[in-house]
Amino acid sequence: MSKNITFTMIKPKAVENGDMGNIITKIIEGGFKIRAMKYTRLSEEEARQFYAVHKERPFYDSLTGFMSSGPIVAAVLEKDNAVQAYRDYIGATNPADAAEGSIRKLYGSSIEANAVHGSDSDENAIIESKFFFADRDWV
Ligand code: RTP
Ligand code: MG
Repeated sequence: MSKNITFTMIKPKAVENGDMGNIITKIIEGGFKIRAMKYTRLSEEEARQFYAVHKERPFYDSLTGFMSSGPIVAAVLEKDNAVQAYRDYIGATNPADAAEGSIRKLYGSSIEANAVHGSDSDENAIIESKFFFADRDWV
């Protein structure tokens, strides 16, 4: 594969707010190619597994409760330098600090409900993609 991938989720609050379509449009406008996509919901146990790297952090229980509180959209995105390009595109973790026009600035509600997740490394992008998608799901 010449280009690389990142993994994203549209978080429950953004779905609840009706911003799922706007965020998908924005992702496409940013030049990210959708390789897999799923509308689904995490159980609390699955959310705890997905975010296990953060299990010592003070926000772990709150985050995993929130992430299992309603439907999400999970997707694999492809672009050159996908992980960093997408992190730049979504903006800072706290929407209040995110750049104007970024996804988190436009659609985030709080540091926890910050509209979207984005992988932090190529290795984690693959691990996270495999958490949600079988090889059969990729286009
Ligand atoms: P993400 O993993 O979701 O793409 O976000 P990130 O790298 O910018 O932030 P990270 O440090 O990995 O944190 C993961 C998610 O935990 C929530 N969080 N809450 N209450 C808090 O201080 C706090 N800090 C982080 C956010 O939902 C963040 O996206
Ligand atoms: Mg992170």
